[in-house]
Amino acid sequence: MANNICIKPMVLCLVLVFVLGHAIAEHFPKFDHNMKNGNNGTLNFLVVGDWGRGGEYNQSQVAFQMGRIAEKLDIDFVISTGDNFYDDGLTGEKDPAFEESFTNIYTAKSLQKQWYSVLGNHDYRGNVAAQLSPYLRQVDSRWFCLRSFIVNTDIAEFFYVDTTPFVRDYFTSPNEHTYDWRGVTPARKYITKVLNDLETALQNSKAKWKIVVGHHAIRSVGHHGDTVELAKLLLPILRENNVDFYMNGHDHCLEQISDGKSTIQFLTSGAGSKAWRGDVKDLDDEGLKFFYDGQGFMSVQLRETEAEIAFYDVFGKVLHKWTSSSELHADM
Ligand SMILES: *[C@@H]1O[C@H](CO)[C@@H](O)[C@H](O)[C@H]1NC(C)=O
Ligand SMILES: *[C@@H]1O[C@H](CO)[C@@H](O)[C@H](O)[C@H]1NC(C)=O
Repeated sequence: MANNICIKPMVLCLVLVFVLGHAIAEHFPKFDHNMKNGNNGTLNFLVVGDWGRGGEYNQSQVAFQMGRIAEKLDIDFVISTGDNFYDDGLTGEKDPAFEESFTNIYTAKSLQKQWYSVLGNHDYRGNVAAQLSPYLRQVDSRWFCLRSFIVNTDIAEFFYVDTTPFVRDYFTSPNEHTYDWRGVTPARKYITKVLNDLETALQNSKAKWKIVVGHHAIRSVGHHGDTVELAKLLLPILRENNVDFYMNGHDHCLEQISDGKSTIQFLTSGAGSKAWRGDVKDLDDEGLKFFYDGQGFMSVQLRETEAEIAFYDVFGKVLHKWTSSSELHADM
C-alpha cells in the first residue's frame, strides 16, 4: 500500500515527461542530412521560392538554369521557401498540380535531391495536410515538407519555421481568401510554441552555421515589405542566438539585406516563377546590398569558415555574389 502511493506519482511524472518530450519533437522534429563526399567538406545547395505554376511565368526556364548550376556545384539539396503551388496550394494528395508544377518541371538529374520545403500563404489556401502527407513522398521521393523542422548537417543546422500563422492579416480579413488553419489554432498559442521550441533548439545548437528558413520576409524592400510580426517576435530570437542567415520567399524578387544590429543577412529568394512586380519600397534602405525584381534563384556554398552566396537570373547569369567569413562574424 505504502509502496503504491510512492510509485504512482512517479509513474505519472514519467508519463508526463514522455508526453511533453514527444510534443516538442512533434513541433520541431530533427533530421540528419549526410553531406556529400567529394566536395571537400563544402555544403552546396540552391534556394528557390514562389514557384508552382505548371511551368508558366518562366518557371521552366528558372528550373532549367537551376539544373545547370546544381550540376556545376554538385549540390546536396534544394530549399523551397514556400508558395509551392499556385494559386491555392494543393486540393488533395492526388492533385495533378504536384506533378505538373514540381516533378515534371525540375527534371534535371542534378536536381534529383531532397527538396526541403516550408509552406507559404498560398499553400495554406489549399489542403495543407496534402502537402505534408507522406503519400507525396511516394509519388516523388524528393519531396519533404513539414510545418517546422530542423535539418542537421556536419557544418550547418537549418531551422525551418512555419511563418504563415504569424501574420494577423490572414485571420482578420477572412473574406478575401479561405485558409486551412486546421492544427494551428488558436494561432497565438501555436506561434508561442513555435517560438519557444525554436529558441530552445537554437540555444542547444553547436553548429558552425545557423540558418533559419521561413516563407515570409523579416526584412524586405519588395512588394510586401517587412513582416512586422516576424520582426517583433522572431528576429530578437535570431539575433540572440547568432543566426547567420534568414532565408525567405514571399516577395517575388531576389534580395540581400544586412541587419544593422547583428551579423544576420536577410536573403530573399522568391522569384521561382511570376515576378516583375515593379514596385520597390525603399532602394535607399541602409542595409540593402542587392535587389532584383525579376525571376531567378540563389545558390549557397558553405565551408567551415566561409559562405559564398550567389543570385542568378532566368538565363543563369550571376547577378550578385557575396562572400562572408565566419571568423569575421566572430569578431563582430
Ligand atoms: C578537393 O581537394 C583536393 C586536394 O586539395 C583537390 O585535388 C580536389 O580538386 C578538391 N575537390 C573539389 C571538388 O574541390
Ligand atoms: C521571362 O523572362 C524574360 C527575360 O527576363 C522576360 O523578358 C519575360 O518577361 C519573362 N516572362 C514572363 C512571363 O515573366
